[in-house]
Amino acid sequence: MNRNLLPISLAFLCACGAAEDPSQPTSTAELERPTEVEMVAAMEAHYTSAILAHDALIQGKLDGFRARMTELDGHALPAEAPDSWKPFDVQLHAGAARASDAADLGTAASTMAAVALACGACHQSTVGGPVYPAPPPGKNAGNTRAEMRKHERAALLLWDGVTGPSEYGWRQGAEGMAATRIFGDAEAPAGTDPSLVEREAALRDLGEEAKTAVSLTDRAALYGQLLTTCGDCHQAVGVEFSQ
Ligand code: HEC
Ligand code: HEC
Repeated sequence: MNRNLLPISLAFLCACGAAEDPSQPTSTAELERPTEVEMVAAMEAHYTSAILAHDALIQGKLDGFRARMTELDGHALPAEAPDSWKPFDVQLHAGAARASDAADLGTAASTMAAVALACGACHQSTVGGPVYPAPPPGKNAGNTRAEMRKHERAALLLWDGVTGPSEYGWRQGAEGMAATRIFGDAEAPAGTDPSLVEREAALRDLGEEAKTAVSLTDRAALYGQLLTTCGDCHQAVGVEFSQ
């Protein structure tokens, strides 16, 4: 699908260029574009619900995830948004609606991926979208908590990579994830449940795959799989999150 996005986005780029020249309105639809302020307000609402859904999924909290996605599904584009934006909005709402009754982490993650893809695809074709500041680098390597911050950062960079879309974010996130060590640099401590070690390895494998994924569709799918791996291990270990 993404192979087709480039020509589509170039077509939109031309349309957007024309629309941004106030002396040359080319159609009523473009005259009625939402204002910058309306668009930014709509995006803040999307962003907040979507990133909180992403966090809930990482934590393995399905109830919280479903609630955030229901919230996201309740947000609408400004009424004057051009028709060309609507398919992406429909895609976003379809993903969010499916999420509200996701019964397991895998299904939940595939809906999260669909939503992130809708964000990125719309930003790509409207030439709008966020400019993400780089998350702070992970500190204090060497213990589980600090290691966790590193791949938490990598997960955020991958989110930026898909939703931005950001080539830089994706590449940095993939590198970070491929180098993930949950149990420190050495082998996992003796007696660690082998299924946890497997999950740690799965994260690195997904990071390696992420390095070679090019299309936005493939990247969104990998991002979803990654979040499943996070949430699944946290559920298995019973990690308590403060928020
Ligand atoms: C239907 C198209 C569309 C969809 C879907 C969409 N966006 Fe946007 N987004 C835009 C446009 C257009 C802008 C640029 C707004 C502006 O600055 O005028 C934007 C801007 C943004 C910004 C920057 C706002 C600012 O403060 O300048 C963020 C953050 C954002 N989007 C996040 C998201 C997230 C997260 C999603 C998915 C959950 C999403 N968007 C889905 C069209 C979309
Ligand atoms: C192999 C199991 C495993 C996987 C996979 C895993 N985690 Fe964790 N995670 C843990 C454990 C164990 C803790 C508790 C660490 C502690 O309290 O020292 C934790 C804690 C965390 C914390 C809380 C850290 C803090 O300082 O409070 C965050 C955030 C986190 N993980 C993010 C992630 C993300 C993002 C992913 C997926 C990219 C992920 N984790 C994948 C086992 C895992």
